[in-house]
Amino acid sequence: MSLLEVKELSASFYTKEGRVKAVEQVSFCLEKGEMLGLIGESGCGKSTLGLSLLRLIEKPGRIDAGNIMIDGVDIVQLKQEAMRKVRWKTISMIPQSAMSALNPTAPIGKQILEAIELHMPEIKKQQAIKKVKELLEWVGIDGDRWLHYPHEFSGGMKQRVAIAMALACDPKVVISDEATTGLDVLTQAQVIHLIKRLQAELGLSILVISHDLAMVTAICERIAVMYAGHLVEIGPTQKILCNPLHPYTRGLLSSNISLDSDGARTSIPGSVPRLINPPPGCHFHPRCSQGKDICKVSIPRLRPVKDNEHQVACFFYEEGF
Ligand SMILES: Nc1ncnc2c1ncn2[C@@H]1O[C@H](COP(=O)(O)OP(=O)(O)OP(=O)(O)O)[C@@H](O)[C@H]1O
Ligand SMILES: [Mg+2]
Repeated sequence: MSLLEVKELSASFYTKEGRVKAVEQVSFCLEKGEMLGLIGESGCGKSTLGLSLLRLIEKPGRIDAGNIMIDGVDIVQLKQEAMRKVRWKTISMIPQSAMSALNPTAPIGKQILEAIELHMPEIKKQQAIKKVKELLEWVGIDGDRWLHYPHEFSGGMKQRVAIAMALACDPKVVISDEATTGLDVLTQAQVIHLIKRLQAELGLSILVISHDLAMVTAICERIAVMYAGHLVEIGPTQKILCNPLHPYTRGLLSSNISLDSDGARTSIPGSVPRLINPPPGCHFHPRCSQGKDICKVSIPRLRPVKDNEHQVACFFYEEGF
């Protein structure tokens, strides 16, 4: 049994303009100690998927359907109180912006301490403070600075604090959402090294959400590719790099760019559809050079190709097509 098993997960935002289907029937597994990269263009639903895994999507968003099994427990079914116990202790998040994780009016160490005291009441105060300092040291910050405020740290250091905070209650699964966005190249490399250590030294399972294709392929064993709310391909990094199957993945790899919101830089013709009114059938069909009639009316399911490891959602690979 996988540590994290996501089955047919769908999540939407119910806005005045209509329903934004940000995550549609997404299924994947994350093994113990595994690092899985999640890539896709801006607005395709990566953060919504990450937040869904912690049941943290804010209104007007909600999970519509599906299961999120962690250690055999379906957390979609948990009541809020039970979910609060799972969050931090079992699954935690390094958010898209460290600034949003940290309260500017409280010392960083107190914020980490608060999380420990709330979720691990069995730990005595002195022991918890020791843990805060150790966590800060682990991410490369002098533990004696635990009473310093967020504004006293650089952007890269704040990101390290956010990582220490995500580790506060010894989670098994960490969702890292664009942990390096907005940092300079050197600081990015340091933060990436730190995330890699989470896996290597602490044995954590990590979902690495990123625009940075090069970074994700360099550090993750497997890659999941998302397009307009759907996972369109998932497989071992080497297989995806050497033999990308989905036309979208092929486009991403050949454009060899960082997938930021500057759509003008992508070499895939067309743009990501609005998720309020996505095109019927395969959402990629208007941009696909291989599309057939069926692609305009039916949504292809993610299916194994040759072996179970590599899966693609494209009619082109379905039997008899
Ligand atoms: N609070 C919200 N209310 C309404 N729609 C939202 C909200 N948050 C996200 N969305 C919509 O959901 C879709 C997915 O957004 P999401 O933030 O998950 O994308 P993303 O892949 O993380 O993008 P990025 O790479 O820019 O971070 C988008 O169409 C977005 O406009
Ligand atoms: Mg995002």
